[in-house]
Amino acid sequence: MRVFVTGAEGFVGGHLLEHLVAAGDEVGGTALSADLLGEHIPEGVAVRECDITQPSVIGQIVSDFSPGAIVHLAAVSSVAQSRRMPELTARVNVVGTVNLLEAASASGRPRTLVISSSEVYGPVAEDECPVSEEHPVNPQSLYATSKLCAEMFARHYVQARKLPVVILRPFNHTGPRQSPLFVCSSFARQIAMIEAGRSEPVLKVGNLEARRDFLDVRDVVRAYRLALQRGDEGATYNICSGTAVSVRHILDVLLSLSDARIEVRVSEELLRPLDLPVLLGSHERFTKATGWEPAIRLETTLSDLLEYWRRQFPPV
Ligand code: GDD
Repeated sequence: MRVFVTGAEGFVGGHLLEHLVAAGDEVGGTALSADLLGEHIPEGVAVRECDITQPSVIGQIVSDFSPGAIVHLAAVSSVAQSRRMPELTARVNVVGTVNLLEAASASGRPRTLVISSSEVYGPVAEDECPVSEEHPVNPQSLYATSKLCAEMFARHYVQARKLPVVILRPFNHTGPRQSPLFVCSSFARQIAMIEAGRSEPVLKVGNLEARRDFLDVRDVVRAYRLALQRGDEGATYNICSGTAVSVRHILDVLLSLSDARIEVRVSEELLRPLDLPVLLGSHERFTKATGWEPAIRLETTLSDLLEYWRRQFPPV
């Protein structure tokens, strides 16, 4: 396949480029700034600088690459951060998606993955879990609202422009190289810094009672490629593990991998005014369509993540 990836500089972008190249695809994409591209960008991948909110720029780049498929990852992806940046979140996640859909429509209508989020479901009762794609949407956060808007635009392009879009709703995912803006990476990074003697032995945490459905990013990017190959046009799919664990469990697993004596302290600024108590999905529809199943155990993912941060912070 000839695949074009927006947001190539991001955590998922890097893993996706590696997976696509390993699978023999020809790959190109965009990054907001070349300075943000890590060393993990595989050789031979042409990444061009592009602000997705500029329609003429993304239009030209997509047309130059002439993709057979597109994965649209470029987004403000942190729920916590989006609260502080409402205008940027709306511009990147909504206007950016419209610009990409417009560019795809004008460049041969390649199959396009629009990456939404499980956050669009909003608060879900225990007895409604695991949620299927039929579950009503009820976005609570600004981030979730922006992702639902993007989905609605995507459906318009399917109906009115015959653009073959597949909408994915990934649940939480983590793994090596994730930004410490997200919970698993934040905890692993703090542990690695404490072990290395680079910070006092206090680990700052937010809401430990929230329960989330975590996947390894490497399972997620495998799902994305399968969605390009086998997903139904116009369909919406959950990408999830089918199991929810508490944030406290994540913390316990990570702490169990360390010999350091660490005090855990709840930090007010990490608590959110609106935080969904539980997000747990069913991937039955996606598995039926593609054969995908998650393969990497959470303990392996967390161990790999901690090892990644240990390499960033050798002992002083
Ligand atoms: N970030 C962070 N940092 N979250 C914490 C912390 C902390 O120190 N302590 C507890 N939490 C809790 C949050 O309150 C939330 O309930 C949960 O951990 C997960 O937070 P994040 O890792 O920031 O992820 P998210 O659930 O807000 O969003 C992620 O998942 C979505 C899909 O459900 C992101 O990857 C989104 O892009 C994605 O769409």
